[in-house]
Amino acid sequence: MSSDVSAVLIEGDGIGPEIAEAVVMVLDKAKAGVEWERMPAGYTALLEHGSTLPERTLTAIREKRLALKGPLTTPVAGSIEVGSDFKSVNVQLRRTLDLYANYRPVRTVPGVKTRFSDIDLVFIRENTEGLYSGLEHEITDGVVTSLKVATRKACTRIAEFAFEFARREKRKKVTGVHKANIMKLSDGLALECYRAVSKKFPEIEYDEKIIDATAMALVMTPEKFDVLVMENLYGDILSDLGAGLVGGLGLAASGNFGALGAVFEAVHGSAPDIAGKGIANPTALLLSAVELLRFCGKGEVAQRISDATLEVYREGKTLTRDIGGSASTMTFANAIAERV
Ligand code: NAI
Repeated sequence: MSSDVSAVLIEGDGIGPEIAEAVVMVLDKAKAGVEWERMPAGYTALLEHGSTLPERTLTAIREKRLALKGPLTTPVAGSIEVGSDFKSVNVQLRRTLDLYANYRPVRTVPGVKTRFSDIDLVFIRENTEGLYSGLEHEITDGVVTSLKVATRKACTRIAEFAFEFARREKRKKVTGVHKANIMKLSDGLALECYRAVSKKFPEIEYDEKIIDATAMALVMTPEKFDVLVMENLYGDILSDLGAGLVGGLGLAASGNFGALGAVFEAVHGSAPDIAGKGIANPTALLLSAVELLRFCGKGEVAQRISDATLEVYREGKTLTRDIGGSASTMTFANAIAERV
């Protein structure tokens, strides 16, 4: 089989290697034409290579501009291996490669019982600033501050990303989520930028909603939303809420985009409680790989894999334990592979 796309594969920690094996197998069976270069990162990389994010991994991603990443364990700060200054590898990756836009599609999976049957939302989260800027200070004993950063550049480019995505995918509406009634300067600047960008996309409806009201409306009337754009912390929280609307993190795909490339990843963690047992659900990583294929212009094979996955869910006979079935990771993946 010839491979016309070359991408870095970070299998990751815990269940990472098991679900990565399943995903690579399905893509091979679908003749997706992706050649994987396996690179280390995470806790396993720290133990084996002395670094959670080896330079050669970063170099490979910079060269290929494309990666699929399994979950990475974040050791608890202060543990023997990492000392007290450990930084999340995910945050480091996003910062180093300036992956400023996080994209989380949330769609109903047939056969997975939830409160709603027709969810189709996209959460777009600013990835580089907000309260995740790492600017924390202890002013005096018992008094600390965490600084929230908003820049015109970052607020504008995330809005442009959201509206360009909406235009490309023929989406109808973008909602800017904020708390500008309280954080008048930082969220105020974000809204100013969202509004300015929205004017360049007259065919797309733009509205704004306060974060707390958005959380409530998402669980009561999700059909009123389409694409949602927001700063870092709000996006972190609301995109998990979105995953909950369709069956949880085990089904949630995501992609991180920047000028230097794109990194697609499963949203869930390394699940140490089930690692090595061969029972993890590979769907989130598989659907992230589907997004990677779409990003590379391989829409046809992406659709085949997505359809096959949904078919296995719809049939409901070969599901993993987290979804109420009893199939192993590979049995579930084989059921998909047979249908692609
Ligand atoms: P987790 O997502 O790993 O696990 C939470 C629960 O969901 C567990 O019961 C686990 O068994 C289950 N679960 C997760 N993924 C599953 C899958 N694919 N199939 C079946 N069940 C699944 O979250 P937790 O326990 O808080 O974190 C464990 C480690 O993962 C930590 O070191 C954390 O820092 C890291 N983590 C990494 C992320 C990433 O790399 N993107 C995201 C979240 C956590």
